[in-house]
Amino acid sequence: MPNEIEDREHFVKAYATGQKPWDSGLPSPELVRVLDAGLLPGKTLLEIGCGTGTNALELARRGYTVTAFDYVEQAVEAARAKSKAAGVKIELKVGDATKDNHGGPYDVIFDRGVYHHVRRMNLKGFLTTVEHASRKGTRWLSLAGNAKEKHEYGPPTVSEKDLRAELEPLFKIIDLREFRFGTDKEEFRPLAWSILMERK
Ligand SMILES: C[S@@+](CC[C@H](N)C(=O)[O-])C[C@H]1O[C@@H](n2cnc3c(N)ncnc32)[C@H](O)[C@@H]1O
Repeated sequence: MPNEIEDREHFVKAYATGQKPWDSGLPSPELVRVLDAGLLPGKTLLEIGCGTGTNALELARRGYTVTAFDYVEQAVEAARAKSKAAGVKIELKVGDATKDNHGGPYDVIFDRGVYHHVRRMNLKGFLTTVEHASRKGTRWLSLAGNAKEKHEYGPPTVSEKDLRAELEPLFKIIDLREFRFGTDKEEFRPLAWSILMERK
C-alpha cells in the first residue's frame, strides 16, 4: 500500500509523462447520467481531485458555481487553460483533499477516482474534508473502483461492505450502482461504483 508522499509522486509523474489513463478528455458519462436525471440539485459545487478539469468544465457549463482542486499543480494548470479557452469560469486551486480548507458548505460534492485512492492512506483526513465542505442535505456523487472485479492494472477498488462502513456514518446512500469507467483506451473499462449520497 503506498504512503501519501508516494501517492502524490505517482500522480505528479502521471501528469508530467501523460500516462493518465483516467483522463479520457470527455465528461464522465456516469456523471452526465446523474446530472440529466436531476439528482444533483443546487448551485454551488466542489470537485475534489479535478485533474485536468474536464468534468469541472461540464459542471460549470451546466450552471453550477464550481470550485475545483487537485494536489498536482500541472493538472490544475491544464484545467485553468481549458476553462480560459472555453470562456467558462471555474474557481481552480491547488489543494490537498486530506488537509486544506476548501470552503463551503457546498450544495454538491463530486469526485471521480479520489475517494478510492485516498481512503487507503488517510480516510480520516478525507472524511473530515468532506464533512467540512458539506451540510445536511448536501449531495455527494463519488465514482470509485469496484472490488468485485480484480485486475492487476487499473484503479484502486473498494467493496460494498467497506464503502458502506466508511461513508454511511455521515451520508445516507441514495443510490449505489455499478457502471464501467471510461479510460483513454476504449478496450479498458474497469468496473466501478457510482455512489450517490446525501449528508445526514
Ligand atoms: C484517477 S485521477 C482522476 C482525476 C479526475 N477526477 C478525472 O476524473 O479525470 C485522481 C486525481 O485525484 C488527485 N488526488 C489524489 N489524491 C489527492 C489528494 N489527497 N488531494 C488532492 N487531489 C488528489 C490526483 O492528482 C488525480 O488528479
